[in-house]
Amino acid sequence: MAIAIFPGSFDPITNGHVDLVERGLKMFDKVIVSVLVNPNKTPLFTVAERSAIIRRCFPSERVVVDSFRGLLVDFAREKGAKVIMRGLRAVTDFEYELQMAMMNRELFPELETVFLTPQTVYSYLSSKLVREVANLKGDISKFVPPHVEVALKEKFGNASS
Ligand code: PNS
Repeated sequence: MAIAIFPGSFDPITNGHVDLVERGLKMFDKVIVSVLVNPNKTPLFTVAERSAIIRRCFPSERVVVDSFRGLLVDFAREKGAKVIMRGLRAVTDFEYELQMAMMNRELFPELETVFLTPQTVYSYLSSKLVREVANLKGDISKFVPPHVEVALKEKFGNASS
């Protein structure tokens, strides 16, 4: 079984991430969307909230949502995954992604990093910008699934009714 890990912060998941998981499902039997537990960051959504939000995006049993702490390569080993999936939106992502891919290869040579590109309309999208626009009461309906929009409105205290 070909298992790919799709790691990230997903704070929150966006349509760009959803698009990448759907592309991954065309190549791999199982995609494990893996939320990093990062004690050095104060996220908007807790790991449990982010995981529940991600789960609702994917009816397919071939998408599994999990969280991890520590090294990504250790998590990949534990899950029997041979592939890490990452998105490349624009050339600005490349340097950071290449560094991570090379470091992960040093740590676990059998693990391949595969880069996927999202639909062009999502090439400028990031969780950070979505959070900012939502916080400033902008329209984020084009950028995230409907239940994520609701969750963001609840967080920022502008839920309707
Ligand atoms: O969505 P993000 O924040 O860009 O995802 C970054 C992530 C989670 C892929 C990266 O920070 C990571 O893999 N962290 C785990 C710690 C680790 O393995 N570090 C060494 C890899 S270079």
